Amino acid sequence: MSNPIIIGNWKTNPDELKTAKKFISNLDEKLAKEKLGKFKYMLAVPDVFISELSKLSKGKIGSQNISGTKLGQETGLSTSSQAKSAGATFTLIGHSEVRKRGETIEERKIKLESSLKSKLITVLCIGEKERDSSGKYLSDLDRDLKETLSQIDSQLASNLMIAYEPIWAIGGENSATPAECFEVIINIRRGLYEILGEKNAKDIQILYGGTVNKDNAKSFIAEGGANGLLVGRSSQDVKAFFEIICSCN
Ligand code: PGA
Repeated sequence: MSNPIIIGNWKTNPDELKTAKKFISNLDEKLAKEKLGKFKYMLAVPDVFISELSKLSKGKIGSQNISGTKLGQETGLSTSSQAKSAGATFTLIGHSEVRKRGETIEERKIKLESSLKSKLITVLCIGEKERDSSGKYLSDLDRDLKETLSQIDSQLASNLMIAYEPIWAIGGENSATPAECFEVIINIRRGLYEILGEKNAKDIQILYGGTVNKDNAKSFIAEGGANGLLVGRSSQDVKAFFEIICSCN
């Protein structure tokens, strides 16, 4: 298996472009010293920083959301091709914080199609709000995955990644356990096979996100079946993010 994919989600951090640039040069310097210089982390940054940061960190910078709108008269939105031309190589789609602001499944489908057609690596986030003892969350997640991917051209799936992010574990104190993560990842993998067929689904990487830190990061990969991680708060501090990367290598 190749190196796990570690994606940082900076959300609305940091405050200034110069701090963001300093973060990346510090991180690359630390990784080079550990001989992890070629390690490919990815960072989902505020859109306004994409252009400058992608010059510093080729191939690693992405967007946290794109709009599904076509060129035209929509105030305050950027399209997948605009993100790509600014230097983004990937985008998150359907993060729970975006869903909370009212993103519908129809919008998500349009974003997904637009992003995949622009050849951005497209990280679709899914996760349950809460768990129930009857396992309904598993069928709800399966339905969400299948509805969102229902119209996707399976040929474009080579650029698709899934991030399993249980909403109850985002921004809190407790992550999922590796066993809880494993159960859902197996289900997601099964769903992907059903929708896209084995050939297109088998190499899709499935990440875990939700209160990942240096102490639990490795367990989601070693025991939880994840191919990588989507990290929020711990990616916003260079030392914490560096320690996560080291712990997984
Ligand atoms: P967290 O956020 O790591 O701070 O829980 C994860 C995310 O929102 O992607």
